[in-house]
Amino acid sequence: MGDSADKMDGKIVLVTGATNGIGQITARELALRGATVIIVGRDTSRIQFAAEKIRSTAPSGKVHTLMADLSSQAQIRRLAEEFQTQFPRLDVLVNNAGAIFARRQVSVDGIEMTLALNHLAPFLLTNLLLDALKASDHARVVTVASAAHIGMRVPFNDLNHEQGCYRSFVVYGQTKLMNIMFSYELARRLAGDAITVNALHPGFVATNFGKSNGGWWNMMFTLAQPFAISPEQGAQTSVYLASAPEVAMVTGKYFARRKAVKSSSVSYDREAQRRLWIASAKLTDYSANG
Ligand SMILES: NC(=O)c1ccc[n+]([C@@H]2O[C@H](COP(=O)([O-])OP(=O)(O)OC[C@H]3O[C@@H](n4cnc5c(N)ncnc54)[C@H](OP(=O)(O)O)[C@@H]3O)[C@@H](O)[C@H]2O)c1
Repeated sequence: MGDSADKMDGKIVLVTGATNGIGQITARELALRGATVIIVGRDTSRIQFAAEKIRSTAPSGKVHTLMADLSSQAQIRRLAEEFQTQFPRLDVLVNNAGAIFARRQVSVDGIEMTLALNHLAPFLLTNLLLDALKASDHARVVTVASAAHIGMRVPFNDLNHEQGCYRSFVVYGQTKLMNIMFSYELARRLAGDAITVNALHPGFVATNFGKSNGGWWNMMFTLAQPFAISPEQGAQTSVYLASAPEVAMVTGKYFARRKAVKSSSVSYDREAQRRLWIASAKLTDYSANG
């Protein structure tokens, strides 16, 4: 898969959501290219199993594990600290973990789960790792968004979805729009630094996505799988953005099938991007000092 010329020897890469699906293949492919890969998971046995699986396919790959439930801001803060204690810098951050929730749930921080996991986690983790990214000669931040952002708006008046009826696909699509708007805003904020920031749509991929909701959701996602691409195909754009020399200087873009493409017109609204940043910083209690 991909181009073996995209060597990653000596690079330090962190991939979230690497126990399964797109994230696991992304981590494996980057390990195969010579990177030291740190995979993050919330369950000890699942993360160890994934690490062994990656090591068995990429025997020369250096695979480390770190634990965090990314819906918890305290655990994200601990993860960032542990990473910085153990590693001198971060060359590539792949914000991949994400999910859809059939019913409204709240995180330990009292935040609606989709918002907490899909948007606030990459927002907080990336910001907490900025010093580590700046310590790299040239760093990349890659965030797995989705074409599900199309037609969505950020619900600024009810980010936590406390009012009205909860529609899981809409809430999910909104958080994927946030991934893209966050990437555009961060790319501008880091314009003077050697860090690129891009978002992507992986395609419709046959993974465990949606299945933890059980019942007819599991059946629906399972029935749809024959129309989906494989996790290997789904990981291609993530791997490309993390490793390809030709995109080393490309920043503030949205990719699909390894090509920069247009995201929805709403996603380019700079005032909304700035507003989202401020709201996200407030919800995560994040300031530039951490
Ligand atoms: N599949 C698609 O068609 C598709 C399309 C567009 C975008 N995407 C995006 O692609 C990304 C990867 O999804 P996937 O399809 O590979 O799904 P997946 O197979 O369900 O993998 C999701 C990963 O996220 C992790 N995760 C979920 N909740 C977590 C939490 N609270 N803390 C830490 N990790 C957590 C999961 O870990 P556990 O093993 O602990 O559950 C798993 O490793 C997501 O951001 C998704 O929105 C997927």
